This record gives sequence, C-alpha cells and structure tokens, in this order.
Amino acid sequence: MSENKFTQAAASSSASDVILEAKNLKKYFPIRQSALLAKNRKVLHAVDGVSFQLHRGKTLGLVGESGCGKSTTGRLLVGIEKPTEGEVLYQGKDLLQIKGEEFRKARLNLQMIFQDPYASLNPRKRVIDILSAPMLYHGLETKDTVNRRVDELLDLVGLPHSAKVRYPHEFSGGQRQRITIARALALKPEVIVCDEPVSALDASIQAQILNLLRSLQKDLGVAYLFIAHGLGAVHYISDEIAVMYLGKIVETGEASDVFHHPAHPYAQLLIRAVPSTNPDLRDAFHVPDGEVPSAIDLPRGCRFAARCPYATDRCRQEEPTLQPLEGRPGHMCACFYPITENTADNNPASDASKDSIPLNSGNEGLLSAMNSQKTVHPIKTTCAETDVAGKEGR
Ligand SMILES: Nc1ncnc2c1ncn2[C@@H]1O[C@H](COP(=O)(O)OP(=O)(O)O)[C@@H](O)[C@H]1O
Ligand code: SF4
Ligand SMILES: [Mg+2]
Repeated sequence: MSENKFTQAAASSSASDVILEAKNLKKYFPIRQSALLAKNRKVLHAVDGVSFQLHRGKTLGLVGESGCGKSTTGRLLVGIEKPTEGEVLYQGKDLLQIKGEEFRKARLNLQMIFQDPYASLNPRKRVIDILSAPMLYHGLETKDTVNRRVDELLDLVGLPHSAKVRYPHEFSGGQRQRITIARALALKPEVIVCDEPVSALDASIQAQILNLLRSLQKDLGVAYLFIAHGLGAVHYISDEIAVMYLGKIVETGEASDVFHHPAHPYAQLLIRAVPSTNPDLRDAFHVPDGEVPSAIDLPRGCRFAARCPYATDRCRQEEPTLQPLEGRPGHMCACFYPITENTADNNPASDASKDSIPLNSGNEGLLSAMNSQKTVHPIKTTCAETDVAGKEGR
C-alpha cells in the first residue's frame, strides 16, 4: 500500500476528527557547491514523502534519531517552512493555498514549543510582556483585559502570578518551559508541535512537564505532535506513534501496539534502547551504530539496510513502502520482513507499563517521579518551587 493509501486508511477511521494532515510532505535543502559542480546540484532529503493525520485532542508521537527530519516536519506543519512538495492540510485546506486573514487564523491555531526554552524567550522581556504581546498583537485581548488573561495562563501552567514581573533568566529550565507552554496557549491553538520539549530537562522535571501537557490536553482539547528522539517519553504521552528514519516514516500505529509489538527492525532497536525496569534486562540491548546513510546520496533500496541485521539482496535493491500489518488494525510498517511474532516476551521494555517507562537512558528515578505525579492537576496545583527561581533544576 502506498503512503497515500495509508493516509486514506487512517482517514476512514474518523475523518471529522482530523485537524491537521501531512500529505506526501517533502522538504529538500539545496547543498552549497562550487560553481564547477553547480550543474549537478545536490539536495539533502530532510523530509521525503511523509504522510500522517493529527486528530483533535490527541497526541501523535514522532520519534527517531537526531537528523532524521523530525524538526523539519514540525516546522512544515506549522508553516514556518514551505514544503518542496506535498501538502499540509489544516481543517482540510492546504496551508500553502490559503491567504490573508484565513492564513493568519490558521497560523494562530498552529503553535510550536522548542527544546531549549531559554533560547526561545526574549531575555530582556518580563513574563507579562512575553505572554501579553502575542495576544495584543493579534487583537485577542485589550490592554484592559490582558492582565487577567496572563493570570489565567500562569494558573494553567502552574506558575504563581508573581512570575509576571520576572525575567526568563530568573527561572529554572522546567519553569521556563512552563512559560513557553503558556505563551503557546495564549493564542488558544488547536495544535501544538512540541519539539523535544523535555529532552533538556532532568527526569523528575520531565515528568512534571509531561503531566502538565497531558492535563492541558484533557482540559483544553489541544492536539500535539510530540517530537522526541527516544521512545520512552513518546510512549508515555502519545495516542499514536510514527517512527521516522532518514526522512521517512517506517512504522506507525496505536502507541502501545507500536511500543509493545514493534514490527520494523529499527523501531525494535529503538524500543530496546529504552532502559528496562527489570534489572535482568536493563542494558542488555543497544542500538548498533552501523553506517547511517547520507541524506544527500541516499542508497538504493531500504534506507535502513546498512544497519539492519535482517537485510537481504532484495532490501538493497527495492525500497519498501508502508504496508498494513495483518491482524493489527491501524498498524503499518515499511519493511519486507516485518517482525510479526508476538515480541512482548523478549521485549526488554514490555515489563513496564505505559506509566512506568523511564524517559531517558539512565533516568531510573523517573519511574517513581512519574507515578508520584500522575494525579497532579496544573490548574489546581502550582509547581513546587515556583517562588524560588532556579530551584526546579534542569
Ligand atoms: N535549514 C536547513 N538547511 C540545510 N539543511 C537542513 C536545514 N534544516 C535541517 N537540515 C538538515 O535536515 C536534516 C533533518 O534535520 P532535522 O529536521 O533538524 O532533524 P531532527 O529534528 O530529526 O534532528 C539534517 O540533516 C539537517 O542537517
Ligand atoms: S526492508 Fe530489509 S533492510 Fe529494510 S528494515 Fe526490513 S529487513 Fe531490514
Ligand atoms: Mg530536531
């Protein structure tokens, strides 16, 4: 089945719930070369034919190693980058085709938060200015009403109202990420692309931010594209998971299905890299380095073949496309030899429940942190050290 058919299959499940759709999305970056070589212009295939749907109030986790095209996909979705080919459909309309006021409204509904909250906050502005500027600019609030709305946003993300008069450098990493989440929420978006929002944070703070994002989704109905390079955090927060390798989606499906029964050899290796809560299995597996092909001179056939323990001659000649897996509705895999047996018994992560997966390698304290915070509700609860800047460490 082609990726286009994959989109159609997913669409039939609940077309009316689809808020954002990527259709055969491609982004190629030209490579600078000397004038002599200019005739044979090369391009880097950052995103190379990606299709998926994002459903209202749901989370799609996009996971893959660094450089596979996750952030570029996120930027294409919110309209920061223009695709080389393909479409981003917002409420069924191509973002590239809509103009003027309609485009402005669409962009308000598509927000993004980044890995490094400090870099994305203006160090010379106080929190009140950071949060109120977009609302005033877009006419969502007036000077008379904006203060009350800023208080509401701080309540939502669990920061005290006293944070308003402070500058970004006065906050810890986790608190700064709360400010960027509040800023994204200010425009009442329907979709937030979360680009590795917890990767730079300590395990216990990661848990707080993930729980905050989950609670906000429950209360506000916002949809997330949640980007991460490891499967732990993605599995915890996602309804569906898409695994990306060198610009393409190689596996996609319902989150626990992909996590507990990965069919693509690369997805299985990623899952084995999630540290197990079972000490006998912990550290027993690793993702082999292998040779990662260049996104400029792509190999013939399957892009994972150079690292795949199961590669055959066919794999080196033909490129596999996403195909539905028999007996697993909604689960698709781009591999000629998908792992179809029940892998739960030998999957080192299968001893852990959705609420008990450590997020980063080595973060063994996260399990207890995550479980102890499961019931935290950001509207009613402020983060523990909000009045003491810097205490909520990275
Ligand atoms: N503006 C750009 N110009 C040229 N190459 C880029 C640009 N942005 C990203 N890339 C390249 O595209 C590939 C995918 O990058 P990115 O989407 O940031 O990956 P990820 O987020 O998965 O780490 C990488 O090889 C990266 O170097
Ligand atoms: S198609 Fe072949 S090389 Fe590619 S992931 Fe599957 S078995 Fe490995
Ligand atoms: Mg990235």
